[in-house]
Amino acid sequence: MNLYNYQPEKPFAQKHLLSLQSYSPDEICQVVSLGLKLKEQQKNNIKHPLLQGKTLAMIFSKSSTRTRVSFEVGMYQLGGKALFLSSSDIQLGRGETISDTAQVLSRYVDGIMIRTFKQSDVEDLAKYGTIPVINALTDLLHPCQALADIMTIYEKKHAWKWLKLAFIGDGNNVAHSLMIACSKIGMDFSISCPAGYEPDEQITASAKQNAEISGSKITITHDPKEAINGADAVYTDVWSSMGQEAEIEERKQVFAPYQVNSSLFSLAKPDAIFLHCLPAHRGEEVTEDIIDGPNSVVFDEAENRLHVQKAILALLLK
Ligand code: CP
Ligand code: NVA
Repeated sequence: MNLYNYQPEKPFAQKHLLSLQSYSPDEICQVVSLGLKLKEQQKNNIKHPLLQGKTLAMIFSKSSTRTRVSFEVGMYQLGGKALFLSSSDIQLGRGETISDTAQVLSRYVDGIMIRTFKQSDVEDLAKYGTIPVINALTDLLHPCQALADIMTIYEKKHAWKWLKLAFIGDGNNVAHSLMIACSKIGMDFSISCPAGYEPDEQITASAKQNAEISGSKITITHDPKEAINGADAVYTDVWSSMGQEAEIEERKQVFAPYQVNSSLFSLAKPDAIFLHCLPAHRGEEVTEDIIDGPNSVVFDEAENRLHVQKAILALLLK
């Protein structure tokens, strides 16, 4: 499979990006392949106004640097426009329903991107509106991040199948979307987390079913050494996600043995790459020598948020 010259098996049929679970491996390949193409065009200064005259509403109930900037710049580069809507400034923050918000925004804009707490709010927005909805992070999932991550792995390793991604840390939103993505595309996914911080059971069950079809292997362990052993890519994320501020001190204790440092990283393959969705806390989930070291690809990964989201926007809003 060559994603630089990918031939789709079927037309892209998705209306939204709520979770990668509803995407076929072929559709995931189409998104990443278009992301690679748009990146190449951007680098060569080739204009691609695929969304001329289109508008994206961006609803944020949580902070963001990468997601906010990459979606806004992405829309601009595609010839469209993005509106930043902080949930505390719009009526949603004063109790207007998701259903009314969805129906009203559907009369004005061509798509909605939302970052919020409850996955059900993102799904309701899609249910009650008539335009594409993109999940830009919930407590449960972060599909745009996972797409940028697998795009980065493909660029660095020129393959997905038979590679092993080790996720060290919390079984959180980022871990969930990565597990789903890996299980769809045939990459082995091994996660190591403290007891009580394992990934969601339903998501794990779906990923294991996907893995049976794709041939990948999903492993959940409490032993970070077992998870990282022989890995081609090593991933970590913050120990406390947005909304878990009250647990920060407790989590620092619980997660201390799960720090990605040179001793743990040395158990991965010598050419393993290090990924992190960012923002990072150096000295907590990862040490400076790893995240700022020669195997780290975190800034290419952050850049790829822009390219792969442009692909998603172009496919959904066209
Ligand atoms: N990785 C990520 O989603 O970053 P932001 O929170 O800055 O958007
Ligand atoms: N797990 C983190 C990811 C931030 C991009 C959070 O939800 O805060």
